Amino acid sequence: MEIDLTKEVIRAENKNVVIINQTKLPHKLEFLTLKNCKETAQAIKNMNLRGAGTVGVASGYAMAQAFSELKSKEKILEAKEFIENTRPTAQNLFYATNLVYKTAIDETNSEKIAWDTADSILASDIEATSIMGKLGAELIEDNYSILTHCNAGKLAIQGYGSALAPIYYAHEQKKNCFVYVDETRPRLQGARLTAWELAQENIDHAIIVDNAAGYYFQKGKIDIVFVGADRIAGNGDVANKIGTYEKAVLAKENDVPFYVVAPQSTIDTKTKSGSDIIIEHRSQDEVKNINSNLIANEKSKAFNPAFDITPAKYITGIITENGNYKPDNLYNNLCES
Ligand code: MRU
Repeated sequence: MEIDLTKEVIRAENKNVVIINQTKLPHKLEFLTLKNCKETAQAIKNMNLRGAGTVGVASGYAMAQAFSELKSKEKILEAKEFIENTRPTAQNLFYATNLVYKTAIDETNSEKIAWDTADSILASDIEATSIMGKLGAELIEDNYSILTHCNAGKLAIQGYGSALAPIYYAHEQKKNCFVYVDETRPRLQGARLTAWELAQENIDHAIIVDNAAGYYFQKGKIDIVFVGADRIAGNGDVANKIGTYEKAVLAKENDVPFYVVAPQSTIDTKTKSGSDIIIEHRSQDEVKNINSNLIANEKSKAFNPAFDITPAKYITGIITENGNYKPDNLYNNLCES
């Protein structure tokens, strides 16, 4: 299954949005053509596409579809709200809907401007992930073992990915590295997607169950941690896939550096701290079933928060396309730049 992930994860074609259906990976490489704003928003909600960057690009294109389909400002605003209600934690989603709306709404050729703006979000992610990858690769020494959580690769943000970008660059630089891939229940983005991406690039890795990271930290097997982010508050607290927080605490306890890799568009300076970030809660069915097979006691209820907050004090650095910041300096640095 050979494919250039830097180009194929999401693209616009004749006012349609063509995506890889990530719910089918790694077993099947299936493409979906999303013909209108509603279908694109639904695909975001169903997680046919996912990862904050890809969600952002899709939301930008969904807005562009709204500009093509709808004539009044009121209707376009309704569509914007519909898109924004799909996945509330991903900052890139709101960044994209607002950027496309504000850039296009008062222009005479608003439809073209909306599509061009959506294209520019994709292009700037590609550029950002390349810079972040190079910066992050400087932290990887030969024979390093790296832990990552969820999927923050090429499927999750266009170009080189976020957390996986440093690993891809280190691999290109012929550094030998090994990746511990958290399986990432309940939707198994690590076991299904990160493992698949790394296998495409022949990068040595092993999937571990979510509970196993502590074992490997304690044995001194992990040299560095890279994760992505769905939203970064002004004080440097980070929302990312559920389970990230406990990995950060384990990293600090075991003196292992813990880095967050994310483009500037994931930073939400209006949100002062992590406790103000809205956490998406998903269906209990995702916890109780795997591939539609019930694995839990049928009558029990289940809780399913999709993200958690890692306080800034556990984070060694936040790598963006503008540099590698100490999280407590994030706000000051951003205000200066
Ligand atoms: O629920 P998902 O699969 O969209 O969650 C994805 C993550 O948590 C990623 O780590 C995050 O989006 C950063 S990757 C750009």
